Amino acid sequence: MSAQLVRRAREVMQNAYAPYSEFHVGAAIEADDGSIHVGCNVENASYGLTICAERMAVGAAVAAGKRRLVRLAVASAVEPPATPCGACRQLLVEFGLDLEVIAVGPSSERRWRLRELLPEAFTRESLT
Ligand code: THU
Repeated sequence: MSAQLVRRAREVMQNAYAPYSEFHVGAAIEADDGSIHVGCNVENASYGLTICAERMAVGAAVAAGKRRLVRLAVASAVEPPATPCGACRQLLVEFGLDLEVIAVGPSSERRWRLRELLPEAFTRESLT
């Protein structure tokens, strides 16, 4: 259920480690069995090693043995709600262009299918 997914994304956003940007992001991914896997952004003094919340959440899902991902909620403190960055969109595409993406800020939300956020995506089919 997406209300729970959004709640989990907002919750894990509190754990973001973002001392450089101070931009806290939380992500929650729902797999096709209803399980939820979360991640937050983790920054580094080297800057470039920073990991986004969405990629952390994908890693958590895959590590839990879940690869059929149906829905993602990403939470931040800005309006309009921040959407997944390009690198995260590319990583998410690996697990399906039909993924529903919900971006939430403090007072509004927006929804897309991943195929809308990354049209003409490079996927495993592109390799054949
Ligand atoms: N960030 C995410 O966690 N997800 C995104 O999709 C966009 C950016 C993080 C990375 C960095 O820690 C901070 O937000 C500012 O860019």
